[in-house]
Amino acid sequence: MDPAEFWSTGDYAVVGDLWAQPGRDLAATLPVQGRDVVDLATGTGITAIAAALHGARSVVGVDVTPGLLREAARRADAAGADVTWLTADFTTVPLPDHSADLVTSTFGIVFAADPAAALAEARRLTRPGGRIVFTSWSTDGLFGRVRRTLAPFFPGAPEPWHERPDGIRTVAGADAQVSEESFDMTVESPERFVTLLEQHSAPIILGAASLGGTWPEAREQLVATVRDAAGQAGEPTDGGIRLPVGYLRTTLRY
Ligand SMILES: C[S@@+](CC[C@H](N)C(=O)[O-])C[C@H]1O[C@@H](n2cnc3c(N)ncnc32)[C@H](O)[C@@H]1O
Repeated sequence: MDPAEFWSTGDYAVVGDLWAQPGRDLAATLPVQGRDVVDLATGTGITAIAAALHGARSVVGVDVTPGLLREAARRADAAGADVTWLTADFTTVPLPDHSADLVTSTFGIVFAADPAAALAEARRLTRPGGRIVFTSWSTDGLFGRVRRTLAPFFPGAPEPWHERPDGIRTVAGADAQVSEESFDMTVESPERFVTLLEQHSAPIILGAASLGGTWPEAREQLVATVRDAAGQAGEPTDGGIRLPVGYLRTTLRY
């Protein structure tokens, strides 16, 4: 299945909004003001729109899934953010060399079938003195735990390179700076969160379909993992339960 078809499954806009905070934090904490930014695998444009609202000189959001870019454009219009949207694969972006001071990708290029090609393209787009910043889920964070809970149901699936700092340095270079970050995600309940994933998240919808009759058992274990993470977070909040979500932020400087 090609990436556009994969990411058109379900509705990423619904679940992506649950974990939008890292993209907003990235734009808020990086020096975007007056800079040219390219956001790869922009999805619904969370990071790109935040960069534009934080005063970037120009922002281009690149994604291979046209439906997600349409939603990104709608959101940018509503927010009054000036972003150019490009439908393209992040390994072949139709922009000149050295287009950006900052190339970002939140939970995007790390899922590339060929990460070396995606990083090479990100480097091509980056000006001397600029940087590439990308995020990925960490192995002990909620989504690393979700993946590890499901791993026994998918024997032979490779360990992701981007869940640990040493794996990231192996692929992205020894000088990659990797920091551990986290944010709080609020969900109604563990059960409701897993239901949202199985209704709207492409990897979970397609994974569940491939498991067929085994999915209910996997699902039960998934709910238990989320319940455990919620239990460690303490008391429920007004809006539901608070789930701490760990992730990694990687910076490559040029
Ligand atoms: C997990 S979503 C992340 C979206 C967004 N960056 C965010 O933080 O919400 C992954 C995104 O990668 C995009 N994508 C996957 N493979 C791609 C490729 N080869 N080229 C461009 N975009 C791709 C998908 O369409 C999807 O929008």
